[in-house]
Amino acid sequence: MFLSDWKPNRADPVPLYKQIANFIRQKISHGEWPLGSKIPTERMLAREFGVNRSTVVTAFAELTAEGLIEGSSGSGTRVVNNTWTVMAARSAPDWDAYTRAGAYRPSLPTVQDINQTENSPTIIRLGTAGPPPELFPTDMLQSILPKLPTMMKSLDYEDPKGLLYLRQQISEYAKKRGIEASPSSILIVSGALQALQLISMGLLKRGSVVLAEKPSYVQSLSVFQSAGMKMAGLPLDKDGLVTDAIPQQKREQKATILYTIPCFHNPTGILMSEERRKQLLTICEQEQLPIVEDDVYRDVWLDHKPPAPLKAMDKNGLVLYLGSMSKTLGPGLRIGWLIGPDPVVNRLADLKMQLDYGSSSLSQWTVAECLKSGLYEQHLQKTRETLQKRREAALHALERHMTGMASWSCPSGGFFIWLRLHRPVSMRALFEKALQQEVLLYPGNIYDRSDHHHIRLSYGNASPAELEEGISRLSKIIQKCGR
Ligand SMILES: Cc1ncc(COP(=O)(O)O)c(C=O)c1O
Repeated sequence: MFLSDWKPNRADPVPLYKQIANFIRQKISHGEWPLGSKIPTERMLAREFGVNRSTVVTAFAELTAEGLIEGSSGSGTRVVNNTWTVMAARSAPDWDAYTRAGAYRPSLPTVQDINQTENSPTIIRLGTAGPPPELFPTDMLQSILPKLPTMMKSLDYEDPKGLLYLRQQISEYAKKRGIEASPSSILIVSGALQALQLISMGLLKRGSVVLAEKPSYVQSLSVFQSAGMKMAGLPLDKDGLVTDAIPQQKREQKATILYTIPCFHNPTGILMSEERRKQLLTICEQEQLPIVEDDVYRDVWLDHKPPAPLKAMDKNGLVLYLGSMSKTLGPGLRIGWLIGPDPVVNRLADLKMQLDYGSSSLSQWTVAECLKSGLYEQHLQKTRETLQKRREAALHALERHMTGMASWSCPSGGFFIWLRLHRPVSMRALFEKALQQEVLLYPGNIYDRSDHHHIRLSYGNASPAELEEGISRLSKIIQKCGR
């Protein structure tokens, strides 16, 4: 996948192939595409620039003749010269080798492609798990942001655990959801994802085993694996994570922690029942197995409030609870929180100081005021109404276009419909074909590598009209896709 801010200008008298060759020349001479680096394929460039492949072929031929690039059938086209090396006869560092050497693993290729494509203005985002773009909280921000300069008084680093005023608001917020947590047991993080990074780096030994639902959101991330953890999957049924295998997994695999998403699970949308929550907590208490409860979707219920969090029933400090503003106000704020026993919060707060000295003060104050003013709860109401309509639109579109090809069920909240295709397909081919038709998918194999049957659909981002169009296109693509 290659994305570029620059595009050739069709109104320019300079031929398109020359404009593209100039663009590549600049990339090389500025060191953005260093010596030895692989450059995007002809197909990628043609797609991104909206030109025929032959135009790119002509540009490549010109650059090859100049000795700047060289293609070989196995390893693609590479930069073999730049004006600096010609002048200085010195070679640049092998950045490709450096990029492979870092300790943190790269994301899966499909996840990288998704990340790069999501902001494309023409794409129908059929899988994105965020609040509807139309609900950007303009009024809320207009009323809150002007107040901040007088409230904030400084732009210093905040406390290691985060802005006390925000932690007080989160403490109140948690209480309404059944969790008693004093501000000192709350750590503000830059999104729940950062809490997972802190947990994996600050609490777990390399080689330890993390139990998680299979499939799970964390399988699409490198966060635990990069920290040297191994993942072990637990099955799901309609009531959530199936707990039977936990004692055995604890014994045989020496599992050290269990990660779960009880509310509107990512990617399946399943809501864990109250009974199952009690069972899970009892078993983990017996096994002394700590739980990471990732509850970022709790506030996006659509039919009825979900059962109380595991953390609300936890009297022994077993549960590390994660929340976030990403699924309601917006992920760009980068504000989440972790609630846990003081020793854990203190350790992770210290780690967070080492990593980034705290989350953005502006975001922390903004979220604190959203909560304090009651505007957050009003916003949730609007979010639910919009999402209910979108869920309906998605289900209608599925009935019209997917009946006989796939099965699905209606989620009671969150964003996800876990579509099961009757026939297995090559997930990568499906993903690429959909992208060619401007539909961005989240294929099931990013959550479980061996999955050839599922697609995670989301009605969070696409409008009802886009859901209809996107699902219609998708059904035609699936019919043409084999395995
Ligand atoms: C289950 C789950 N946890 C955490 C996150 C990341 O949230 P944040 O934006 O707060 O880091 C996501 C995002 O998709 C998610 O689905």
